[in-house]
Amino acid sequence: MIEREETARSREPRRLLVELGENSYPIWIGEGLMDRLAEKLPPLQPGARIFILTDHHVDAFYGDWAERILREAGYPTRRLSLEPGEATKAFGSLPPIYEALLDFQCTRKDLMITLGGGVIGDLGGFAAATYLRGMPFVQIPTSLLAQVDSSVGGKVAVDLPQGKNLVGCFYQPKAVLIDPLLLQTLPERYFRDGMAEVIKYGCIRDAAFLERLAGLADRNAVMAVMADIIETCCRHKKSYVEADERDLGLRMHLNFGHTLGHAIEASEHYEGHSHGEAVAMGMAAITRISEAMSLTQPGTAEKLEKLLRQHGLPCRMPVEKKKEILAAIATDKKNLGRTLKVVLLKTLGESYLWDASPSFFDAAAGWQAE
Ligand code: GLY
Repeated sequence: MIEREETARSREPRRLLVELGENSYPIWIGEGLMDRLAEKLPPLQPGARIFILTDHHVDAFYGDWAERILREAGYPTRRLSLEPGEATKAFGSLPPIYEALLDFQCTRKDLMITLGGGVIGDLGGFAAATYLRGMPFVQIPTSLLAQVDSSVGGKVAVDLPQGKNLVGCFYQPKAVLIDPLLLQTLPERYFRDGMAEVIKYGCIRDAAFLERLAGLADRNAVMAVMADIIETCCRHKKSYVEADERDLGLRMHLNFGHTLGHAIEASEHYEGHSHGEAVAMGMAAITRISEAMSLTQPGTAEKLEKLLRQHGLPCRMPVEKKKEILAAIATDKKNLGRTLKVVLLKTLGESYLWDASPSFFDAAAGWQAE
């Protein structure tokens, strides 16, 4: 368990409400929130069971702690810990989860808690959506990427060998509980990974937020204001989700940098750059391309690259993989039979959607070496 200060423990957490009619839910954000986990759960019937899904890394730090708090609050609990990593977000991981839920005699009146990063949140959310045609679940994201992005919005899925998130659904959690202090144990690489998504929100709709991020020199400086950063990101995320829950229009802006990012990850069989690193390269490259085509205000790419580098993120595409990356984009487009809608920046803090031609990503500006 990590050290936590008395002041943090007593501070009231912040609450945002994702307003989706009968599927509305709160996002709680607060340092020390984990200690008050049981208070922030949705209403449960007396004797309700709580099933915790986690991975071995997170379990080692927080599994016993979470389970103890819930037991002390009177809930029967069961915990299942899986291998960490993207490979776990597969169909093969589902049967053991369903079996453990059955073995624990979980019904639709009980609750699943996903305690982990994006893999556990997506996989557990999909298991919750499908077990007995849907049981309630609560997200407790433990990675920065999950705290600022994937835990909010109800996208749950598993991967197929052909690509990520190819089977899933929209299934909203009953609550998202975010304790920024959990990030203290996050390895540096995964901290930077999440910073790519943080910077993304600034790029697409919040220039003032980008300026604030530019004033934060290192991880300690970021951590000192982390609750604010998470709140800003979750406010943006919630407003996109409320406007376009099913990702048919406005929500697509959240995919800034992701067409190239996903293609980089696919070309490396998900064993090379992390998601955030790939998205950082994708955001920088697409902005260099759009700037060269006069679709973006001059100077935008340079400012964006400076900020990404400041937060330890890569900006240049892996040129040696160009063929595979372009093939991955073409395959994706062919498989899904749609025009390639990409997110471009007008300037920092303002994005728009653009129908890209097949040669768009081939442009030299995107492939400059360091
Ligand atoms: N992570 C993008 C979305 O939730 O739409």
